[in-house]
Order: sequence, then C-alpha cells, then structure tokens
Amino acid sequence: MTAAESDPDVGLAATGVSRSLGGGLVLDGVSVAPADGSTVGVLGPNGSGKSTLLRVLAGVLKPSAGRVTVDGQDLSDVARRTLAQRVAVVEQHSDTQIPLTVRDVVGLGRVPHRRAWLASSATDEAAIHEALEQTGMTTKASQRWQTLSGGERQRVQIARALAQRPRELLLDEPTNHLDVQHQFELLDLLSSLPVTSVIALHDLNLAAMYCDEIVLLDQGAVVAAGSSADVLTEDLILQVYNVKAEVTTSPEGHPHVRFLRN
Ligand SMILES: Nc1ncnc2c1ncn2[C@@H]1O[C@H](COP(=O)(O)OP(=O)(O)OP(=O)(O)O)[C@@H](O)[C@H]1O
Ligand SMILES: [Mg+2]
Repeated sequence: MTAAESDPDVGLAATGVSRSLGGGLVLDGVSVAPADGSTVGVLGPNGSGKSTLLRVLAGVLKPSAGRVTVDGQDLSDVARRTLAQRVAVVEQHSDTQIPLTVRDVVGLGRVPHRRAWLASSATDEAAIHEALEQTGMTTKASQRWQTLSGGERQRVQIARALAQRPRELLLDEPTNHLDVQHQFELLDLLSSLPVTSVIALHDLNLAAMYCDEIVLLDQGAVVAAGSSADVLTEDLILQVYNVKAEVTTSPEGHPHVRFLRN
C-alpha cells in the first residue's frame, strides 16, 4: 500500500494538527493519514514531537488546531469505549506498581470489549492466548510483571495491545529494549497483521525495511513524508539530524543508511 492510497476519511487521520505544551508549539500543522492496513514510521530527533503526535492520534491530548478523525468523524465525537475498542497504544514508557502477572497485563487489552459485570469470554481467552504466542511470552504468563526484563516488559505491553485486536495500533519506540531478533519478529508481525500501525522509531534502517510510509518530523513539523526512498536521503538526514550519511540501496530494494563520522 502506498501513501497515495491514503484517505483521511478512512481510519485514523490527523489533518493540520498543532499542539502547544508548556507555552511552546510542539506540533505545527501535522497531517498524517495512514492507508488502511499500512505501517507508517514516525521519525525525527529527540523532542521533534513523535510521542506528542501519537498521543494526539490516541485522543490522549487534544489538538489546539486541526482535526483528528476516525473514519472521518472527529475524535471528540467518538465514544471513549468505541475508540478503546479499535485503537491500541503502546507508550514509550510504561510502569505499574500493582502486582500483576503477565497474563493479567495482557488481559487488560480485553477490558474495552467486556461489560464490567461479565466474566471473560472464550473470545477474550483466545485473544490473550494468541497475543502471548505472537510475542513469545506464553512461557512467562504466570510471572509477575515487575520481575520481567526491560525487553520482556515491552513485549508484554505489545501483547496487551494485540489482545485488544485493534484496527489501529500506535507504538512509541516499541523496539528500543528489544534484541535484534525480537526487533525483526515484532516488525514482521506488525507487517503481517491486518492492522494499521503508526510507529515512532529511531532506527532509520528498520524504518526503511518495514514501513510503507515514513513521516519525518523536525521541531514539530513534517519535513518530508512518503516512501523510504523519498524520505531517507543524505540531504534530509544531514538537515534534520545534523549527521552525514551515505545512503545506498539494499539488495531487497530498501534504502540503507550508513552514518559517517567526520
Ligand atoms: N507537558 C509538557 N510541557 C512542556 N513541554 C513539553 C511537554 N510535553 C512535551 N513537551 C516538549 O515537547 C517536545 C516534543 O516532545 P515529544 O515527547 O513529543 O518528543 P519525541 O519526538 O517523542 O522525542 P524522543 O525521541 O526523545 O522520544 C519536547 O521538546 C518536549 O520537551
Ligand atoms: Mg518520544
């Protein structure tokens, strides 16, 4: 799927979104309309607005200007429960003081689908089971969340989001604690699922390998958006990251970025 096929009236979309925080403009007229089922990478230096954009898309933060819509409907007009049933979020940092097992945490993904007074259904159980399998966390299901390693915690948060069976999945640096095998496994999994994924990433080569579209942010504004070949150019990398790079084409046809030290 390509950026050209994206339509702001289908799925989750931001149109001309601005947002101020602490007196400064953190997002400045950002538009993103992921094509249905595609994987969109949000790149940019620290502080460029990636997490803020994901939080605005999730409805956690309201835009000060512009619109966020699901299927063309303003997010503020969509019931919270409806939104929670279709949009799942994996935050950059997550923690809990409550003593929960891995299975309990993954089960939280089913809460938006359940009536408070009903016990979990066979569908809930199947979704939890599948999400644990997909993230390789089945053998840790009974372990306490607090005793997991950093990468395992991250995989459990991803499992919780998958158990939600969302249509849109917003992930903030989901690979930052993962070893190289699990980075590939996660991105392979996201590409294979019929889910629209918006992923904040720092690894330009992972983005090039897995993203259908890349949105490059700098100081809250979109500097470039499109295919990895359009966005991951030597000029744009120098402009945005202030680092010289050599970009070649991998045997698979993706841009490959090699950073050059002076
Ligand atoms: N509540 C707040 N008050 C003031 N400034 C804020 C607030 N929240 C975020 N910011 C600022 O907004 C900017 C964008 O933050 P954001 O977390 O979106 O960046 P990011 O691109 O996700 O960065 P990183 O790569 O470090 O995760 C930063 O300069 C940050 O300091
Ligand atoms: Mg961030």
